[in-house]
Amino acid sequence: MARLSLLNNAGKDAVRQRLQALRQELNLHAHRYYVLDDPILADAEYDRLFQELLALEQQHPELITPDSPSQRVGGTPLAQFKTVPHSVPMLSLENAFGAEALVDFEERLFRFLQSRTPISYMTEPKLDGLAVELVYEEGLFALGSTRGDGLVGEDISLNLKTIPTIPLRLLTRDGGEVPKRLEVRGEVFIGLAEFKKLNEERSKAGEPIFANPRNGAAGSLRQLDPKITATRPLDFFVYGVSDPIALPCRNQHELLTYLGSLGFKVNPLIHLCHSIAEVISQFAQLQSQRPALAYDIDGMVAKVNDFALQERLGAKARSPRWAIAAKFPASQATTRLVAVEFGVGRTGAITPVAILEPVQIGGVTVRRATLHNEDELRRKGLMLGDTVLVQRAGDVIPEVVKPVEENRTGQEQPITMPALCPECGFSLVRAGQEAITRCPNPNCPAQRIRGLIHFTGKSGMDIEGLGKKAVEQLVGQGLIRDIPDIYQLKVETLAALDGWGEKSAENAVRAIQGSKTPTLAKFLAALGIRHVGEVTAQLLARHFASLARLLSAGEADFLQIEGIGEQVAASLVDYFQDPAVQEMLARLEALGVRVQEEKPDSGGGGGLTGSVFLFTGGLARLSRHEAKARIKELGGQVASGISRKVTHVVLGESPGSKLTKARELGLTVITEDEFLRLIGR
Ligand code: IVH
Repeated sequence: MARLSLLNNAGKDAVRQRLQALRQELNLHAHRYYVLDDPILADAEYDRLFQELLALEQQHPELITPDSPSQRVGGTPLAQFKTVPHSVPMLSLENAFGAEALVDFEERLFRFLQSRTPISYMTEPKLDGLAVELVYEEGLFALGSTRGDGLVGEDISLNLKTIPTIPLRLLTRDGGEVPKRLEVRGEVFIGLAEFKKLNEERSKAGEPIFANPRNGAAGSLRQLDPKITATRPLDFFVYGVSDPIALPCRNQHELLTYLGSLGFKVNPLIHLCHSIAEVISQFAQLQSQRPALAYDIDGMVAKVNDFALQERLGAKARSPRWAIAAKFPASQATTRLVAVEFGVGRTGAITPVAILEPVQIGGVTVRRATLHNEDELRRKGLMLGDTVLVQRAGDVIPEVVKPVEENRTGQEQPITMPALCPECGFSLVRAGQEAITRCPNPNCPAQRIRGLIHFTGKSGMDIEGLGKKAVEQLVGQGLIRDIPDIYQLKVETLAALDGWGEKSAENAVRAIQGSKTPTLAKFLAALGIRHVGEVTAQLLARHFASLARLLSAGEADFLQIEGIGEQVAASLVDYFQDPAVQEMLARLEALGVRVQEEKPDSGGGGGLTGSVFLFTGGLARLSRHEAKARIKELGGQVASGISRKVTHVVLGESPGSKLTKARELGLTVITEDEFLRLIGR
């Protein structure tokens, strides 16, 4: 008996050791993967180690430790959060707008210190998320809390543990020491791409979407069930500690380096500045970097670098004297929804546009904002007279985010969709399943003008010199009404127009003449037939090779083409049977437009010969049908199941079990973007 239990103990020690080695290795690789974005282990190998850990832990639950990567997700839902006092208050920051405010900030420091000795500053992006505090005891994550009112926060430890960039155990190099107790502070946030995806999923599932990444992060952290939080794409940047006194750091710069060495994610855009002038130029730089960042920031924090100096400066009631938040001009504002105008798109789709009481957002006056389409309008529940939140992100068109319902007075009026086309007066239709109301009049002037803009534009014939403005002008002057009119334009006519000269007129006419021999695919895409984009146009061109052959085809012929369904086939038939279309094509021919014959479908030899693709998850920007058709066109193959023959696994949204298998087999996994590039999109 005694001997047996000894053996057991020895066996148990071996398991304990193996578990420790696994935890250490997995945590190290997770750090390289999530924090450093520099993995050195194949995903499949990581998964294998993880599975081994899970299996061992299942056999020996008594050996599970809190820093095991298996412990990130778990626990039962809470009834409510416990409150936790912060040992050192979590202060906020004073805001500054513009460069002068930063100069003023330094002047205040000089006055307070009664010295003009140069000061060094750390500048850090001001993340727009939620401040949290993480407590580590003996190197182990022990407690995590919200900022709360600065003095007392809420215990959200279970939720914070699910965030892969928050270490469960501090890293040490070469058995180095970790502080007995460490209270770090930083910001939890959601990246912009992840936020978009999260909202798309929520909207598909019929759940309310988050207004912005910050709300998404807040909502996710305030979940009582950590299993839900674990599904949210939360991330974390560290920016400080409650008290640096006991740490081997004399300034903020050393502190951030130190925190990085303990395994925390430090923002790469931090900068050590040696004067306030440098701080100001960093601010400008950060502002120019902002549109390209993967996450939202709302400004820059400048901190006096030296801790001894910070100590001397101290704090006011709610904010330290040694730091300031330099804010970017706001890109959101509230204003009043005065009216809704309805525009008509190229395909006759009625698009609502918000007419707003003018408001300054990020330095420009916004008077109109898009409401996308009727369904979006309904989903947002807007009413005329509402106070609305409007946002401008980067260079994109301003959009109405949501109504501020608290401001309703009862005087607001419902928004009604028009019954008649605002441009031509035709009765509008909302067909079958479509979420969109359309004007059915093919001669509707609004549709015509947009159709012409599409024809000359980049996804059409790409006629240089005939952009949106030029087309609007030409239509406005009655110089073109339809596509053939474009080919009758003369240099003299154009040169006489406002804003045109001899040279630009000559160039435009040369470009028009140069577009007279388009490929069939280009021509078909340019016509703007409903449901026929560039991909479908290519399918058609490959199949029929000539315009004449396509024109003699019927619905059944279209349906034979892989990648073309009933909707597209019906739309093609409708279009080409229309006498007006037939007349237009005849006029184009008479004007010398000669659509090129496509090279016959060789059934291979394209750029993807030898490649075998497999899809997992939904694609966002093209249908699987289109994707498959394009692969075939380029000589590739599409597999229906996983096997070693697959050369590319295309990763869509919410991928299935194929992904896990693909990783196990060590297959190449590519994103949708990479796939689009491969097929030349
Ligand atoms: S330092 C006493 N650094 O801004 C210093 N804060 O208004 C207080 N924030 O609640 C924080 N990025 O949520 C600091 N690099 C950064 C920051 C940052 C974002 C947030 C934080 C804080 C708020 C202060």
